[in-house]
Amino acid sequence: MKSKTFLAGAGASALLVGLLIKIMARRRAAVFLKAAAQGDHSLTALITGASSGIGAEYARQLAARGYQLILVGRRLKRLQEVGSHLSEQYGVGVEILCADLSSLEGIDLVERRIIEHGAIDFLVNNAGFGLPRVFAQAPIDQVVGMINCHNLASVRFTRAAINGMLQRNFGAIVNVSSTAAYLRIPGDITYIATKAYLNVFSESLHLELLGTNVRVQALCPGYTMTEFHDRPEYAALGTRERIPAWLFMDAFTVVNASLNDLAIDKVICIPGVGYRLLAWSGRSGLLNTAIRLLLPLTEKIPASFRPGSLNAREATPPESPLSDSGA
Ligand SMILES: NC(=O)c1ccc[n+]([C@@H]2O[C@H](COP(=O)([O-])OP(=O)(O)OC[C@H]3O[C@@H](n4cnc5c(N)ncnc54)[C@H](OP(=O)(O)O)[C@@H]3O)[C@@H](O)[C@H]2O)c1
Repeated sequence: MKSKTFLAGAGASALLVGLLIKIMARRRAAVFLKAAAQGDHSLTALITGASSGIGAEYARQLAARGYQLILVGRRLKRLQEVGSHLSEQYGVGVEILCADLSSLEGIDLVERRIIEHGAIDFLVNNAGFGLPRVFAQAPIDQVVGMINCHNLASVRFTRAAINGMLQRNFGAIVNVSSTAAYLRIPGDITYIATKAYLNVFSESLHLELLGTNVRVQALCPGYTMTEFHDRPEYAALGTRERIPAWLFMDAFTVVNASLNDLAIDKVICIPGVGYRLLAWSGRSGLLNTAIRLLLPLTEKIPASFRPGSLNAREATPPESPLSDSGA
């Protein structure tokens, strides 16, 4: 009886402490995100991939906090819809930048705008896509386009914005990564590698920023209900239908977790206990060892994702100009 009462008391106290920590983190988030709103300086956020999903939700949550917005993406009409809705609802200024970040021209355009603006306070490097093909069959221009969009763009935009942030001693950079960064699985290895790069980049930059009020975070969501899995390459595989609905989080919860973790200067944010566990088991090596051992045995994985499934006939030849010249 006594031990039951003790356990119930301990459980209730742990819940109470957890709740208090959450409330304090939320308060600190609000203070941090509004810290530079002094005098005439209005805060500006630049968000890539703001036409849908997680990026559109960052735009909404930052507009609700009074940020002026610069929204980047390829679909002009969708960006205009998001922008006009937010400027009506929250009374913030919205600028639209149409750019394909898989291309160097698109990256140049956005980088120039960041430098010319000179006072971006919140940068969200969120634009991204998947390429669910084994590496030997993935079109090389799409592989390079992904490296450009996920990594080159994020690094160049961070570099263009960071010195202004350091001068004002205020700013935040969020690199939208993925829980997949912790997994070593076949089927979209460039996605995994580019997201792992964002984690390492953010964790190391965090150390260089210690002692300043400029913060960096790698947000590592698990499955999130957005348009990501509706894109043709996933729709063709029926990916959304195959993933149980309960594994999907909503974009509001994911972005809310990111902003709360920024307040406590947490560099890696993984929303959801289940996904934190998954990342931990990937990081520890346990899960990836199990995957390596079990993968050749399972029939449930689509044939094209299984190791050894690719024979010489199926392999896509390299699309290099050197191969024409016989070099
Ligand atoms: N949904 C998930 O399950 C999940 C899980 C982990 C991580 N993530 C990451 O979350 C980020 C946002 O994805 P989401 O889930 O919100 O999917 P989404 O709804 O498809 O949004 C992706 C955004 O990125 C933009 N984008 C894609 N390629 C681009 C390019 N080449 N140039 C410029 N913009 C580009 C898209 O805009 P346009 O089409 O207008 O260009 C869109 O606004 C991605 O980095 C993704 O890797 C998603």
